[in-house]
Amino acid sequence: MHAWLCENPIGVDALTWKELPTPTPGPGQVLIQIQAASLNFPDLLIVQNKYQMKPELPFVPGSEYAGVVQALGEGVKHLKVGQTVACLSGTGGFGTHTLAPAKLCMPLPDGFSAIDGAAFIMTYATSHHALVDRAALKAGETVLVLGAAGGVGTAAIQIAKAMGAKVIAAASTDEKCALCTALGADATINYGRENLREALKTLTGGRGPDVIYDPVGGDLAEPAFRSIAWRGRYLVVGFAGGPIPALPLNLPLLKGASLVGVFWGDFAKREPQANAAMMAELAQWYGQGKIKPVIDRTLPMNDLKAAYTLMGSRSVKGKLVMVN
Ligand SMILES: NC(=O)c1ccc[n+]([C@@H]2O[C@H](COP(=O)([O-])OP(=O)(O)OC[C@H]3O[C@@H](n4cnc5c(N)ncnc54)[C@H](OP(=O)(O)O)[C@@H]3O)[C@@H](O)[C@H]2O)c1
Repeated sequence: MHAWLCENPIGVDALTWKELPTPTPGPGQVLIQIQAASLNFPDLLIVQNKYQMKPELPFVPGSEYAGVVQALGEGVKHLKVGQTVACLSGTGGFGTHTLAPAKLCMPLPDGFSAIDGAAFIMTYATSHHALVDRAALKAGETVLVLGAAGGVGTAAIQIAKAMGAKVIAAASTDEKCALCTALGADATINYGRENLREALKTLTGGRGPDVIYDPVGGDLAEPAFRSIAWRGRYLVVGFAGGPIPALPLNLPLLKGASLVGVFWGDFAKREPQANAAMMAELAQWYGQGKIKPVIDRTLPMNDLKAAYTLMGSRSVKGKLVMVN
């Protein structure tokens, strides 16, 4: 097998494509022949030692992937050799093969491609948990999605529309806004050139959005929160923009609004049954055509460094997927 190895977490340049012995699965593990692996924001942070999870060195990055089960370890009963699965295990995806914990593997139903499977779990689970569980979004409410053309943002647009909400998608370029419109957003704001607060006032008749989905943080957070509707819910999803914003606490008071944290990874660990029910609903929505990963492009696995450059330059729309 071959894989991108991180022996020194000082950045993407230090990754090397190496031949490694193909491993044998231990108890509770499966060997997967990887067909596709997507890039998520944590994949960029983990190779720079900037992510909360710090794997033992050396490690193979690649948090999320899909492929064919080639061998089963002891005690694995719910998977079969030859089955196609998607898995989000945190590492291991950027290679030709990996060992994965069987309990994290989601069998892909017929018609669910490996490329879509590799780009599904992280973004759709995060956005479903955020909008359905944490924000209790209702049909007819208005959602503002920041960073709306990114991985979790595009999933949030589709899920909010599937729930019957009105979506205002905000992004940094006209091209990104056009993608959001194509995905079903009712209105867009280009915060690269428009004033976010003014645009929100105009689009909501001064009322403000009921729910704000924020995976960007930085300078957008305070003007966005100042625009929220009475009883609004502000979802803290991530800080792709860099600095972690601080908010004056009089703002939630004045709007009777809630600041709501979203941490899908811990939700999945702490509430596995609720997470499994959510994943089943998402798979059903995929089958019904209500949601579908937005794939910016696929690249050959050995072009990983080019994919990282694209992601770091803020030019990706939806997801990048590496394929073998
Ligand atoms: N809380 C959770 O459970 C959870 C789960 C998954 C991901 N996340 C977090 O959510 C965030 C977004 O993840 P993602 O996979 O959607 O990432 P992504 O596809 O790269 O999208 C991030 C978006 O953020 C915007 N952005 C603003 N400033 C940026 C900068 N300096 N560099 C890069 N992007 C910038 C970009 O949109 P514009 O150019 O339009 O501004 C970009 O499309 C990350 O912080 C990630 O860690 C959280």
